[in-house]
Amino acid sequence: MQVWAVANQKGGVGKTTTAVSLAGLLADAGQRVLLVDLDPHGSMTSYFKYDPDELENSVYDLFQPGSEVDMKLLEPLLMPTSNRGIDLIPATTALATLERKSVGQEGMGLQVAKALRLVKDRYDYVVIDSPPVLGVLMINALAACGHLLVPVQTEFLALKGLERMLRTITMINRARKRQLTYTLIPTFYDRTVPASVSCLRELHQRFAENIAASVVPVDSKFITASAKGITPSEMDLTMPGVQAYIRILRGLAERSRG
Ligand SMILES: Nc1ncnc2c1ncn2[C@@H]1O[C@H](COP(=O)(O)OP(=O)(O)O)[C@@H](O)[C@H]1O
Ligand SMILES: [Mg+2]
Repeated sequence: MQVWAVANQKGGVGKTTTAVSLAGLLADAGQRVLLVDLDPHGSMTSYFKYDPDELENSVYDLFQPGSEVDMKLLEPLLMPTSNRGIDLIPATTALATLERKSVGQEGMGLQVAKALRLVKDRYDYVVIDSPPVLGVLMINALAACGHLLVPVQTEFLALKGLERMLRTITMINRARKRQLTYTLIPTFYDRTVPASVSCLRELHQRFAENIAASVVPVDSKFITASAKGITPSEMDLTMPGVQAYIRILRGLAERSRG
Protein backbone atom coordinates (compact mmCIF):
# COMPACT_ATOMS: atom_id res chain seq x y z
CA MET A 1 0.00 0.00 0.00
CA GLN A 2 1.37 3.39 -1.00
CA VAL A 3 0.34 6.49 0.92
CA TRP A 4 0.45 9.93 -0.66
CA ALA A 5 -0.47 13.16 1.08
CA VAL A 6 -1.49 16.26 -0.85
CA ALA A 7 -0.55 19.43 1.02
CA ASN A 8 0.27 23.08 0.66
CA GLN A 9 -0.09 25.82 3.27
CA LYS A 10 -2.24 27.75 0.84
CA GLY A 11 -5.91 27.31 -0.06
CA GLY A 12 -7.35 27.08 -3.55
CA VAL A 13 -4.23 25.71 -5.22
CA GLY A 14 -5.84 22.46 -6.43
CA LYS A 15 -5.13 20.10 -3.51
CA THR A 16 -8.54 18.47 -3.43
CA THR A 17 -8.72 18.36 -7.23
CA THR A 18 -5.31 16.68 -7.36
CA ALA A 19 -6.30 14.09 -4.75
CA VAL A 20 -9.59 13.23 -6.45
CA SER A 21 -8.12 13.23 -9.98
CA LEU A 22 -5.25 10.91 -9.09
CA ALA A 23 -7.54 8.64 -7.05
CA GLY A 24 -9.87 8.42 -10.04
CA LEU A 25 -7.08 7.47 -12.43
CA LEU A 26 -5.72 4.87 -10.01
CA ALA A 27 -9.20 3.37 -9.64
CA ASP A 28 -9.62 3.39 -13.45
CA ALA A 29 -6.46 1.24 -13.55
CA GLY A 30 -8.02 -1.28 -11.17
CA GLN A 31 -6.24 -0.13 -8.01
CA ARG A 32 -8.13 -0.14 -4.70
CA VAL A 33 -8.00 3.41 -3.41
CA LEU A 34 -8.78 5.04 -0.08
CA LEU A 35 -9.19 8.81 0.10
CA VAL A 36 -8.83 10.51 3.49
CA ASP A 37 -10.26 13.99 4.00
CA LEU A 38 -8.34 15.82 6.73
CA ASP A 39 -9.59 19.29 5.83
CA PRO A 40 -12.23 20.69 8.24
CA HIS A 41 -13.82 22.38 5.22
CA GLY A 42 -14.62 18.92 3.96
CA SER A 43 -14.34 19.81 0.26
CA MET A 44 -13.49 16.26 -0.72
CA THR A 45 -16.31 14.93 1.44
CA SER A 46 -18.73 17.34 -0.26
CA TYR A 47 -17.29 16.35 -3.65
CA PHE A 48 -18.66 12.85 -3.08
CA LYS A 49 -22.01 14.24 -1.90
CA TYR A 50 -21.61 13.67 1.82
CA ASP A 51 -22.45 16.62 4.06
CA PRO A 52 -19.58 17.49 6.43
CA ASP A 53 -22.09 19.22 8.72
CA GLU A 54 -24.35 16.18 9.05
CA LEU A 55 -22.16 13.06 9.11
CA GLU A 56 -22.32 10.77 12.15
CA ASN A 57 -18.93 9.20 11.59
CA SER A 58 -15.83 10.85 10.29
CA VAL A 59 -12.08 10.99 10.59
CA TYR A 60 -12.74 13.11 13.70
CA ASP A 61 -13.51 9.86 15.55
CA LEU A 62 -9.83 8.88 15.33
CA PHE A 63 -9.00 11.84 17.53
CA GLN A 64 -11.38 11.18 20.43
CA PRO A 65 -9.36 11.26 23.64
CA GLY A 66 -8.70 7.78 24.93
CA SER A 67 -10.13 6.01 21.88
CA GLU A 68 -8.23 2.98 20.68
CA VAL A 69 -7.61 3.06 16.93
CA ASP A 70 -8.83 -0.42 15.97
CA MET A 71 -10.99 -1.97 13.23
CA LYS A 72 -14.14 -1.47 15.29
CA LEU A 73 -13.53 2.26 15.27
CA LEU A 74 -12.28 2.41 11.69
CA GLU A 75 -14.75 0.20 9.79
CA PRO A 76 -17.73 2.62 9.95
CA LEU A 77 -15.48 5.41 8.65
CA LEU A 78 -14.71 3.64 5.36
CA MET A 79 -17.52 4.98 3.21
CA PRO A 80 -18.27 4.11 -0.42
CA THR A 81 -18.19 6.75 -3.16
CA SER A 82 -19.70 7.12 -6.62
CA ASN A 83 -16.63 5.21 -7.84
CA ARG A 84 -16.53 1.50 -6.97
CA GLY A 85 -12.75 1.56 -6.68
CA ILE A 86 -12.65 4.44 -4.19
CA ASP A 87 -13.58 4.52 -0.51
CA LEU A 88 -13.53 7.70 1.53
CA ILE A 89 -12.85 8.52 5.16
CA PRO A 90 -14.84 11.75 5.31
CA ALA A 91 -14.28 14.94 7.27
CA THR A 92 -16.75 16.77 9.46
CA THR A 93 -16.65 20.43 10.32
CA ALA A 94 -16.04 19.38 13.96
CA LEU A 95 -12.44 18.77 12.88
CA ALA A 96 -11.90 22.52 13.14
CA THR A 97 -12.09 22.29 16.94
CA LEU A 98 -9.34 19.70 17.02
CA GLU A 99 -6.34 21.97 16.87
CA ARG A 100 -7.40 23.57 20.14
CA LYS A 101 -8.50 20.37 21.91
CA SER A 102 -5.50 18.29 21.04
CA VAL A 103 -2.97 20.72 22.43
CA GLY A 104 -0.97 18.87 25.01
CA GLN A 105 -2.36 15.44 24.13
CA GLU A 106 0.49 13.17 23.32
CA GLY A 107 0.60 10.90 20.31
CA MET A 108 -2.18 12.70 18.39
CA GLY A 109 0.21 13.15 15.47
CA LEU A 110 0.10 9.47 14.55
CA GLN A 111 -3.63 8.72 14.67
CA VAL A 112 -4.02 8.56 10.88
CA ALA A 113 -0.83 6.53 10.43
CA LYS A 114 -2.12 4.02 12.99
CA ALA A 115 -5.48 3.76 11.23
CA LEU A 116 -3.90 3.22 7.82
CA ARG A 117 -1.73 0.41 9.12
CA LEU A 118 -4.95 -1.51 9.85
CA VAL A 119 -6.06 -1.41 6.19
CA LYS A 120 -2.72 -1.95 4.47
CA ASP A 121 -3.94 -5.16 2.78
CA ARG A 122 -7.28 -3.71 1.80
CA TYR A 123 -6.07 -0.82 -0.39
CA ASP A 124 -3.30 -0.36 -2.92
CA TYR A 125 -3.20 3.43 -2.57
CA VAL A 126 -4.21 5.97 0.04
CA VAL A 127 -4.43 9.64 -0.91
CA ILE A 128 -4.76 12.11 1.97
CA ASP A 129 -6.16 15.60 1.42
CA SER A 130 -5.00 18.11 4.02
CA PRO A 131 -5.95 21.57 5.28
CA PRO A 132 -3.94 24.65 4.31
CA VAL A 133 -2.73 25.25 7.87
CA LEU A 134 0.10 23.66 9.76
CA GLY A 135 -1.51 21.97 12.73
CA VAL A 136 -2.26 18.54 14.11
CA LEU A 137 -4.15 17.49 10.95
CA MET A 138 -1.39 18.38 8.52
CA ILE A 139 1.13 16.78 10.88
CA ASN A 140 -0.96 13.60 10.73
CA ALA A 141 -0.98 13.69 6.93
CA LEU A 142 2.78 14.20 6.72
CA ALA A 143 3.52 11.53 9.32
CA ALA A 144 1.31 8.95 7.59
CA CYS A 145 2.52 9.40 4.02
CA GLY A 146 5.38 7.88 2.08
CA HIS A 147 5.42 10.64 -0.50
CA LEU A 148 4.12 14.19 -0.52
CA LEU A 149 2.42 15.93 -3.44
CA VAL A 150 2.48 19.74 -3.33
CA PRO A 151 0.21 21.47 -5.84
CA VAL A 152 1.57 24.92 -6.63
CA GLN A 153 -0.55 27.47 -8.40
CA THR A 154 1.48 29.01 -11.21
CA GLU A 155 1.01 32.63 -10.26
CA PHE A 156 2.95 35.50 -8.82
CA LEU A 157 2.50 34.83 -5.09
CA ALA A 158 2.74 31.05 -5.20
CA LEU A 159 6.44 30.80 -4.46
CA LYS A 160 6.07 32.47 -1.06
CA GLY A 161 3.53 29.87 0.06
CA LEU A 162 5.75 27.15 -1.32
CA GLU A 163 8.69 28.32 0.77
CA ARG A 164 6.57 27.95 3.88
CA MET A 165 5.66 24.41 2.86
CA LEU A 166 9.31 23.53 2.20
CA ARG A 167 10.26 24.77 5.68
CA THR A 168 7.57 22.50 7.10
CA ILE A 169 9.02 19.54 5.18
CA THR A 170 12.47 20.29 6.61
CA MET A 171 11.01 20.43 10.10
CA ILE A 172 9.14 17.14 9.63
CA ASN A 173 12.26 15.47 8.29
CA ARG A 174 14.10 16.23 11.51
CA ALA A 175 11.54 14.05 13.30
CA ARG A 176 11.22 11.25 10.72
CA LYS A 177 13.41 8.22 10.33
CA ARG A 178 12.81 8.05 6.61
CA GLN A 179 13.12 11.34 4.71
CA LEU A 180 9.89 12.67 3.30
CA THR A 181 10.17 12.93 -0.47
CA TYR A 182 7.99 15.32 -2.41
CA THR A 183 6.80 16.24 -5.90
CA LEU A 184 5.65 19.75 -6.84
CA ILE A 185 2.64 19.81 -9.16
CA PRO A 186 2.21 23.11 -11.02
CA THR A 187 -1.52 23.89 -11.31
CA PHE A 188 -3.80 26.46 -12.96
CA TYR A 189 -1.26 26.90 -15.72
CA ASP A 190 -2.16 29.34 -18.46
CA ARG A 191 0.48 29.78 -21.12
CA THR A 192 -1.17 32.98 -22.33
CA VAL A 193 -0.49 34.67 -18.97
CA PRO A 194 3.11 35.90 -18.59
CA ALA A 195 3.08 35.57 -14.75
CA SER A 196 2.04 31.92 -15.12
CA VAL A 197 4.84 31.21 -17.63
CA SER A 198 7.52 32.94 -15.54
CA CYS A 199 6.39 31.18 -12.35
CA LEU A 200 6.68 27.80 -14.08
CA ARG A 201 10.13 28.72 -15.39
CA GLU A 202 11.25 29.66 -11.88
CA LEU A 203 9.89 26.42 -10.44
CA HIS A 204 11.90 24.46 -12.99
CA GLN A 205 15.05 26.46 -12.28
CA ARG A 206 14.83 26.08 -8.53
CA PHE A 207 13.27 22.66 -8.07
CA ALA A 208 14.20 20.70 -11.19
CA GLU A 209 14.56 17.48 -9.20
CA ASN A 210 11.14 17.70 -7.63
CA ILE A 211 8.85 18.85 -10.42
CA ALA A 212 6.03 16.62 -11.67
CA ALA A 213 6.16 15.18 -15.18
CA SER A 214 3.45 17.56 -16.37
CA VAL A 215 1.66 20.80 -15.61
CA VAL A 216 -2.06 21.01 -14.87
CA PRO A 217 -3.68 23.66 -17.08
CA VAL A 218 -6.67 25.79 -16.15
CA ASP A 219 -9.58 23.54 -17.10
CA SER A 220 -13.13 24.56 -16.19
CA LYS A 221 -14.31 20.98 -16.56
CA PHE A 222 -12.89 20.20 -13.10
CA ILE A 223 -15.70 22.28 -11.66
CA THR A 224 -18.28 20.36 -13.71
CA ALA A 225 -16.91 17.04 -12.45
CA SER A 226 -17.09 18.16 -8.83
CA ALA A 227 -20.67 19.34 -9.31
CA LYS A 228 -21.54 15.88 -10.65
CA GLY A 229 -19.70 14.13 -7.81
CA ILE A 230 -17.67 11.91 -10.12
CA THR A 231 -13.94 11.82 -10.72
CA PRO A 232 -12.71 14.00 -13.61
CA SER A 233 -11.53 10.96 -15.60
CA GLU A 234 -14.93 9.29 -15.25
CA MET A 235 -16.53 12.40 -16.68
CA ASP A 236 -14.16 13.12 -19.53
CA LEU A 237 -10.91 11.28 -20.11
CA THR A 238 -9.98 13.66 -22.91
CA MET A 239 -10.15 16.91 -20.97
CA PRO A 240 -6.71 18.59 -20.86
CA GLY A 241 -6.65 18.58 -17.03
CA VAL A 242 -7.12 14.82 -16.89
CA GLN A 243 -4.51 14.28 -19.59
CA ALA A 244 -2.04 16.24 -17.42
CA TYR A 245 -2.81 14.11 -14.35
CA ILE A 246 -2.30 10.97 -16.46
CA ARG A 247 1.24 12.12 -17.29
CA ILE A 248 1.87 13.14 -13.68
CA LEU A 249 0.70 9.76 -12.40
CA ARG A 250 2.94 7.97 -14.88
CA GLY A 251 5.88 10.04 -13.61
CA LEU A 252 5.03 9.21 -9.99
CA ALA A 253 4.87 5.50 -10.81
CA GLU A 254 8.30 5.65 -12.48
CA ARG A 255 9.68 7.50 -9.50
CA SER A 256 8.44 4.91 -7.02
CA ARG A 257 9.98 2.13 -9.13
CA GLY A 258 13.20 4.11 -8.64
N1 LIG B 1 -6.66 23.11 -13.02
C1 LIG B 1 -7.81 23.72 -12.68
N2 LIG B 1 -8.47 24.50 -13.57
C2 LIG B 1 -9.62 25.11 -13.23
N3 LIG B 1 -10.21 25.00 -12.04
C3 LIG B 1 -9.60 24.24 -11.10
C4 LIG B 1 -8.37 23.55 -11.37
N4 LIG B 1 -8.01 22.87 -10.24
C5 LIG B 1 -8.96 23.13 -9.34
N5 LIG B 1 -9.92 23.93 -9.83
C6 LIG B 1 -11.09 24.48 -9.14
O1 LIG B 1 -10.62 25.50 -8.27
C7 LIG B 1 -11.25 25.42 -7.00
C8 LIG B 1 -10.20 25.18 -5.91
O2 LIG B 1 -9.57 23.92 -6.15
P1 LIG B 1 -9.33 22.88 -4.97
O3 LIG B 1 -8.82 21.63 -5.58
O4 LIG B 1 -10.55 22.76 -4.13
O5 LIG B 1 -8.18 23.63 -4.16
P2 LIG B 1 -7.66 23.39 -2.65
O6 LIG B 1 -8.07 22.01 -2.24
O7 LIG B 1 -6.18 23.57 -2.70
O8 LIG B 1 -8.30 24.45 -1.80
C9 LIG B 1 -12.29 24.32 -7.13
O9 LIG B 1 -13.52 24.89 -7.47
C10 LIG B 1 -11.78 23.46 -8.26
O10 LIG B 1 -12.81 22.81 -8.98
MG1 LIG C 1 -9.18 21.41 -0.59
